[in-house]
Amino acid sequence: MSEPLIKVDHLKKYFPVAKTKGKFVKAVDDVTFEVQRGEIIGIVGESGCGKSTMGRCLMKLIDITDGSLYFDGQDITHFTKKEMDAIRSKMQMIFQNPFSSFNPRHTIGKSLMDVARHYGQTKEEAEKKIHELVEEIGLDQVVLRRRPSELSGGQLQRLAIARALVAGPEFILADEAVSALDVSVQAQILNMLIDLRDKYNLTMVFISHELTVVEHISDHVIVMYLGAVVEKGTSEELFYNPMHPYTRALLAAKPKETPDDEVNHELLTGDIPSAMSIPEGCRFCTRCPQCIPGKCDTEVPELRHISGDHYAACHLIKT
Ligand SMILES: Nc1ncnc2c1ncn2[C@@H]1O[C@H](COP(=O)(O)OP(=O)(O)OP(=O)(O)O)[C@@H](O)[C@H]1O
Ligand SMILES: [Mg+2]
Repeated sequence: MSEPLIKVDHLKKYFPVAKTKGKFVKAVDDVTFEVQRGEIIGIVGESGCGKSTMGRCLMKLIDITDGSLYFDGQDITHFTKKEMDAIRSKMQMIFQNPFSSFNPRHTIGKSLMDVARHYGQTKEEAEKKIHELVEEIGLDQVVLRRRPSELSGGQLQRLAIARALVAGPEFILADEAVSALDVSVQAQILNMLIDLRDKYNLTMVFISHELTVVEHISDHVIVMYLGAVVEKGTSEELFYNPMHPYTRALLAAKPKETPDDEVNHELLTGDIPSAMSIPEGCRFCTRCPQCIPGKCDTEVPELRHISGDHYAACHLIKT
């Protein structure tokens, strides 16, 4: 297999707790995965499990506490801001709120032009690229003369995607990119992202707390719980043969598509514990319906190979 575009190796991000020396919020706690070129990886988990922090580390928007990060075979873990600026055009981001991507006082055309010019494109190159992208995202060129407040959330999110693509990136990180939109608009945008991936050979990490969204778009899925990966595999492996009780519980909470679509897993109960005091042993043991006292609450389960690309961290799984 060729070199992955992104490689995350034992990555940790601990935030110091104000006024409490030696205490940390372990937002990302030893995460390892790779993203192959042209692949879409979904990262899913409940609120507070560290998805956005993982994404901010990936984009080098915050310092990494420990572990390594590689982009296109290059170790970028300790890249300075200046070194990152040199590769920033290759790594772009789409956020949940598309309004945050645009200056409210500027027309969309000006905002997109500024981005293209920032990355060194001539005015002619930029105009051609912007025209092509607006067509690609299915909008009329007239939107370029509009300001953000004159557009719908769905239109603006399409334009935020175009904005990310103006730079000509190889990698896109989408953090809850469709979470604020209606379900029908969500589906259109997800399909559009899949088409754009194919057209521009993009590689993506797609973060969402919604399993249905991740299932639709991802080739591989990573399930995070309290800062750690508890299960990962191809979308098929994850959704048709979930192994970890946490993944099963997330699936049980997923809305059923048809009345016959029965899922008999147990629903999650209780709140996710604080990332400041992660439970001993298996971090899911305090909420796991199958927790084995004396084992699950004392021994940390390794992320073990199950079959194919499928891995899970649970003492109950026989391999
Ligand atoms: N700058 C920060 N300082 C201290 N703690 C932080 C900081 N950023 C995030 N955290 C904590 O890190 C943990 C993970 O947060 P993060 O935002 O990464 O979760 P998430 O999975 O993206 O959640 P959501 O689905 O709500 O977006 C949380 O406990 C959060 O409170
Ligand atoms: Mg988040």
